[in-house]
Amino acid sequence: MSNTQQHQESHTEEHHSPIKTPKQLIVTIVLSFVVPILIIILLVNLVAAGNQVGAGSDTLGPEATAKRIAPVAHLELVDASGPKVFKTGEQVYKAVCAGCHAAGVAGAPKFGDTASWAAPIKTGLNTMVTNAIKGKNGVGVMPAKGGNPALDDFEVTRAVVYMANNSGAKFDEPAEPAPAAAPAK
Ligand code: HEC
Repeated sequence: MSNTQQHQESHTEEHHSPIKTPKQLIVTIVLSFVVPILIIILLVNLVAAGNQVGAGSDTLGPEATAKRIAPVAHLELVDASGPKVFKTGEQVYKAVCAGCHAAGVAGAPKFGDTASWAAPIKTGLNTMVTNAIKGKNGVGVMPAKGGNPALDDFEVTRAVVYMANNSGAKFDEPAEPAPAAAPAK
């Protein structure tokens, strides 16, 4: 075999397909379909992963989004002729009075402290309610209605009873004003 011949043979060898059996052909065809599909699935996952947020954070959740795009003004339509829904003494206390009375700020009788409530309780519920509604400026400044003029007198009364009854008194829960007292239609 001459040198040239050998060269030519190895040259043709290089161009031979690596696929030699029908089985290899089938495997190659199947792979040529499956591999691109796998790549597409991986890419789709990658893009979708961009929308995910860290565990525990809900900045893109439907609830958080609804809150973010909610209108600033929140109107609650109340039927003015309907019966007024009064806050309970506990609700009023927590929303308005606790600011001073929970800790006993500026000489305010402290919630639950029988000793500091004994004197006002002795004067009777009516006096306490009047002082709570109109305000009192003795030891410290008790603002009228605790500083929230929107409170109904009945709500203030309830709050006084709630505080006093948790601080040694046994007042009856005040009766709700009759609905007839509501503004006429
Ligand atoms: C800004 C602080 C403050 C807030 C808010 C406040 N109080 Fe007072 N309150 C006081 C102080 C101070 C006194 C003591 C006044 C005194 O004896 O001179 C007092 C006293 C009272 C007394 C005793 C009055 C009496 O006859 O001696 C009642 C009852 C009372 N508050 C009810 C309320 C109710 C009900 C609320 C909520 C609606 C409220 N307070 C909110 C500061 C506050």
